[in-house]
Amino acid sequence: MTYLQKLTSETAQQYTKIYGRPPRWIVAAPGRVNVIGEHTDYNDGFVLPTAIERYAVMAADKAAEGKNVIEIRDVSGVEPALIDLSVPVKPGPPRWSNYPRGVISGFMEHGMNPGGLDVLLHSTVPLGAGLSSSASLEVCTATLMEAVIGRFMLPVEKALLCQKAEHEFAGVPCGIMDQFISVMGRQNNLLLLDCRSRETQLVPMNDPAVSLLIANTNVKHELAGGEYAMRRAQCQAAARAFGVASLRDATPEALESARGKMDDVVFRRARHVIGENERTLHAAEGVRASNWPTVGQLMFASHCSLRDDYEVSCKELDAIVEIAEGIGTKGGVFGCRMTGGGFGGCTVSLVQTEKVEAISEKIAADYKTKTGTEATIFTTRPAAGATVVKG
Ligand code: GLA
Repeated sequence: MTYLQKLTSETAQQYTKIYGRPPRWIVAAPGRVNVIGEHTDYNDGFVLPTAIERYAVMAADKAAEGKNVIEIRDVSGVEPALIDLSVPVKPGPPRWSNYPRGVISGFMEHGMNPGGLDVLLHSTVPLGAGLSSSASLEVCTATLMEAVIGRFMLPVEKALLCQKAEHEFAGVPCGIMDQFISVMGRQNNLLLLDCRSRETQLVPMNDPAVSLLIANTNVKHELAGGEYAMRRAQCQAAARAFGVASLRDATPEALESARGKMDDVVFRRARHVIGENERTLHAAEGVRASNWPTVGQLMFASHCSLRDDYEVSCKELDAIVEIAEGIGTKGGVFGCRMTGGGFGGCTVSLVQTEKVEAISEKIAADYKTKTGTEATIFTTRPAAGATVVKG
C-alpha cells in the first residue's frame, strides 16, 4: 500500500465513524518542497519544486436534503468550518476555514455550486513549515468541488483560483508556485515553472540513488508575513530602478553597473533574484543530466544568497545547512538549503539514498546540540499532484 492509499483509507474509516455513512468522494492534494528558485515566483522568474508524499485529504458526501451548508470537520478536532452557501461566501471564523472559503467562493463566482456537503479533512502536510500546507488545502478543496460538480477546470485556471483565495481570504500576497505544483506535480518529476509565461516543463528525477531529505527546524518566526510583503515591495523598487517590468528582465550586467548607485538593501535583493533565476535554470539542466554534485552546489549557493542578500533565513535553518555542509559529499550530502518563504520551516537536502539514515541521525543530533530544538526529518520521492481518489 502506498502512503496515499493508507492515508485515504484511514480517512474514509474515520469519515464513516463521524458521519455514520461512507464517503462518496475522496480527494487528495500534496504539499510541496521547492528544490531551488526561492522568492523568484513573484518576480516572474523560475522555480523548480516537486510535490511531496504528504497530503491534504478530504472525504465527503452530500449533506442532508435542504442543508445548504458545507461542513468541514478536521480529524484533529479543531473547530469545524460551517460555510453557508445561501449567502455570498466571505472570510470568517475559524481562521483555517478561510482557505476552503476562498476556494468555494471562487467556484461560486464561476457559477459552480456544489450544494451542501459533509466533509472530513485530514492533512499530513506539516503546518506553517514552508511545505505549502495552505496551498494543499486550497487545491484539495478545489479538487473536491470539481469532483462533486463533475466539471474540471484547466490546471492553470484551478491553480490561479486557489492563489486568489490565498490573496483575498487569507491575506497572503503569495506567488503562483505552491498552487501550481500542488495541482500539476507528477510522480518522479520536478516541475520547472516559468512564472511569467506559466509554461511548465517536467524534469525527470527518478534516479533511486538520490533522495530529497526534508528537515523541519520546528521553529517559525512570527515576522514571516510582514517580511514577505516587504520583500515583494523591495523587488518592485529594484525593477523600477532598472527600468524593467520585473526582476526577471534584469541582467547580471545591469546589476553590475547598478552597484553603488542603488540602495544597498534593494541591490542585494535584486542580486538574489537575478542569481537565483540563473541557478534554477542550471539546476534543472543538472537534474536532467543526473549531475548531482552540480545541483547540490547550486543549492548551497542558493542558501547563502537567501541568508546574506535576501535575509529570509534564520539561525535554525543556517544550523542545518552548516551541519549538512559538514557532512559533505563524502558523507552523502550533495547540497542543502532553506526551502519556502523562510524565517523557519524546513531545509531540503539532496542526498545519497543509501546514506539517508546516517545523515538523518547526524542532522538530528547536531541540530539538537546547537539549538536545543528537535528537528523532524523525512525523505520523499517526487509525488503526483492533486487526484480524485474516489468518486
Ligand atoms: C511562499 C509563497 C510562494 C513563494 C515562496 C518563496 O511559499 O507562497 O509563492 O513566493 O514563499 O519562494
